[in-house]
Amino acid sequence: MSRPRFGRRHVGIRFGSRAVVVIGLFVLVAGGRAVAQQASGRPDLAGGSGASSPASRVPEVPATVTFAKDVAPILQKNCMQCHQSGSIGPMGLTTYEEVRPWARAIRQRVLSGEMPPYRYDRDVGIQQLKDDLRLSDTEVQTIARWVDTGAPLGNRADLPRSPTFPDPNTWAYANEFGPPDLIVRTKPFTLPARGQDVWWRPIVPTGLDEDRCIRAVSVKPSLRGRAAAHHANSEFVVLDEKSGQWVETERVSEYALGKVGEVVPLDACRTLPANSMVRWDVHYYPTGEEIVDDVIEMGIWLYPKDYQRTYKQDLKLYSLLMKGGELEMPPHSTVMTQGFHSFKTPVRIDSFQPHGHFRLVAKTLEIFSPETGKLEMISSISNWTNDWHTSHIYADDAAPLVPKGAVLVVTGYYDNTKENKQNPDPDQWVGLGSRTADEMSHAWIAVTHLDDEGYTKLVAERDARKKAAATTARDRQ
Ligand code: HEC
Repeated sequence: MSRPRFGRRHVGIRFGSRAVVVIGLFVLVAGGRAVAQQASGRPDLAGGSGASSPASRVPEVPATVTFAKDVAPILQKNCMQCHQSGSIGPMGLTTYEEVRPWARAIRQRVLSGEMPPYRYDRDVGIQQLKDDLRLSDTEVQTIARWVDTGAPLGNRADLPRSPTFPDPNTWAYANEFGPPDLIVRTKPFTLPARGQDVWWRPIVPTGLDEDRCIRAVSVKPSLRGRAAAHHANSEFVVLDEKSGQWVETERVSEYALGKVGEVVPLDACRTLPANSMVRWDVHYYPTGEEIVDDVIEMGIWLYPKDYQRTYKQDLKLYSLLMKGGELEMPPHSTVMTQGFHSFKTPVRIDSFQPHGHFRLVAKTLEIFSPETGKLEMISSISNWTNDWHTSHIYADDAAPLVPKGAVLVVTGYYDNTKENKQNPDPDQWVGLGSRTADEMSHAWIAVTHLDDEGYTKLVAERDARKKAAATTARDRQ
């Protein structure tokens, strides 16, 4: 029997009875279309998820766990950037005294996979990701054992040196690339303390009069507006001479709470078009506090003018609905949507970011190969939450290289029952719409468009690197 392989840890915890419903649905749909779900392991697509998941090589959790020796280093690496004063976490977790009162809550949040906020299944699909915040199973178990044994401090001499963190007001990527070459700001907007969702769609010029290749993009909400700015999408629009209209050419970025930004891979050019404007689409949600003249900034780092790049990368919205399709969720129902997308040339998939609201519970990206009949899981997010939108960026040698004709299969699972803890009202009919109370069904995918020659070359280069790494590993033994 074929079934989606949701992260083991999450199925038991968050899915409960829902898993049964969702899996049943999947079999019906997938079976009806006679899609052959790959039975096990080895993916065939170049650059697929060859690596073993961290779970398969779990080192021992120490018998006696102390804060100083074992827990503090984990918190430094995975928690403190948000849990320190001036950052977005509700409390600091930088010293034993700060952490101790939260021990129980920490145990619960890390066991459930809610903290750190990076929802991505462990035991399925590509596991090598950039900016991956997840803890390993050993780290989770270390924290659990520490709390279960009374959360002792241990020996202060074992404490790691306190880390230094960048000011949360500074730009992401500032360390690597310096200050942004271009900052595009929204026009100021005053958000009332209370009320419905609000959209703010100012159009502002980039000020550049020639095409340039983007190196990285990062969107930075103001400190005060950070909790209210749910999404800030942006796209480049250029003047179409014939119609006299400003038309969309390229997405710039999709900012959502918790997302830092995106770096364009070295071999690709994402174009910032000459004489373009940025059309913002900011989605604010009132937080109970008036925010006066809020401004969201987007930093853009550019490659030098004469920088030649072989391939073009773009970041686009891929729908999971048929053309003109409806999304309709009766009260107390579960629903699945699926979208299929293929390309005229080989491509590389650089990132995957599901999008949905309160009823979305899981989204997956698979690749179907018509040649082999295999459907390979690439990414699965089975404990989705609208609180965090993360773009999962594949590590350079893990980004799937997709042959011409292969099909991206994106699947969304929705739960409008009371089993879904995030569901504000299971008695509602829910339809397509951009309010948080409505639902949406798409994913953002960054795609580098290759040619046949480039595809063959990238596959060969990866194989060579893999062989070299294997040889080095053997020689060491
Ligand atoms: C990307 C930023 C970020 C990171 C990294 C992060 N947190 Fe959080 N954390 C938050 C935010 C924001 C909240 C408040 C919203 C919520 O509860 O989800 C929160 C809430 C919590 C809470 C609940 C507090 C309460 O009021 O009950 C706990 C416990 C927690 N985090 C622990 C951790 C631990 C432990 C880590 C590391 C293993 C971690 N967090 C990593 C941002 C972060």
